Amino acid sequence: AEAEAQARFDEIIAADSRIEPRDWMPEAYRKTLIRQIAQHAHSEIIGMQPEGNWITRAPSLKRKAILLAKVQDEAGHGLYLYSAAQTLGITREEMTQQLIDGKAKYSSIFNYPTPTWADMGAIGWLVDGAAICNQVPLCRASYGPYGRAMVRICKEESFHQRQGFEILLTLMRGTEAQQRMAQDAVNRWYWPSLMMFGPPDDESPNSARSTAWKIKRFSNDDLRQRFIGMLVPQAEALGVTLPDPELRWDAENERWHTSEIDWSEFYEVLAGRGPMNAVRLQNRRDAHESGAWVREAAAAYARTQAARSDG
Ligand code: ACO
Repeated sequence: AEAEAQARFDEIIAADSRIEPRDWMPEAYRKTLIRQIAQHAHSEIIGMQPEGNWITRAPSLKRKAILLAKVQDEAGHGLYLYSAAQTLGITREEMTQQLIDGKAKYSSIFNYPTPTWADMGAIGWLVDGAAICNQVPLCRASYGPYGRAMVRICKEESFHQRQGFEILLTLMRGTEAQQRMAQDAVNRWYWPSLMMFGPPDDESPNSARSTAWKIKRFSNDDLRQRFIGMLVPQAEALGVTLPDPELRWDAENERWHTSEIDWSEFYEVLAGRGPMNAVRLQNRRDAHESGAWVREAAAAYARTQAARSDG
């Protein structure tokens, strides 16, 4: 029966059709999806912090309203993704526990500080830009609930990216000090945003299998290249410089030639030793603890309601 189920699964994958929660799936496929979707959900939730830092200090009421809406979108993406992961047989409590115990990964990018308002622009332009590049192909991921979640999330990400671009554009049309602030933020976020796509292909242990299962559609390096290609004309329109003196189009090999990415920095951040890892995790723990009474009250209310309908 297992061989038959496996054959049916293989057929669905080969036909570019979709695996749904009640379909049989190999255990390793289930595990890979739980890993990737949970990491993605945690990234959205931890990703609220770098920008949350600026909600009370946004330069105008309009900027504040936009930033609030964007951070709320991220909370929504996180909850949506936790729900998608739950269809695979893990609970929200388990995933949250893994995150606050420091056992779950989340994107390296959210472990960098946001010292200036221009960081809100750079995050929108570069971080959300990288997220879109990575996530548009995930709309076709073979697991139904994940692919469908991505469609909606990508629409919102694309609005986020534009608002970041617009913040930078406003600064670049401003005073010299504002232009310097924008360039400085781009300098600090550029390399970490390239690292978001994951390790180089020859050091990416999960890629081969995830590609065969049609979870991943493009390799880490291919997406990174595509992202650079998207940034170059936009940087020109903004009037900012991408901080890589080696960056140029290599016509012969039809790819962007770049300086070497500092992968030791990436692995340090993954190991929990990035500039803001400890702060991000502590804030998440504190928020979880201070929300305990809400969870307890909701559970008590649910019990009373259930008892009433029994009687
Ligand atoms: N930050 C933290 N961890 C990373 C990153 C990163 N930028 N890139 C790769 N890793 C981790 C992987 O999770 C994997 O760890 P694990 O095996 O312990 O789970 C390890 O490094 C090796 O990488 P790969 O074999 O290349 O892993 P994978 O095939 O999962 O590819 C990728 C990584 C591209 C990030 C993939 O998981 C993905 O597309 N995820 C969905 C998108 C996402 O999570 N975005 C979050 C940031 S965007 C946002 O939230 C706005």
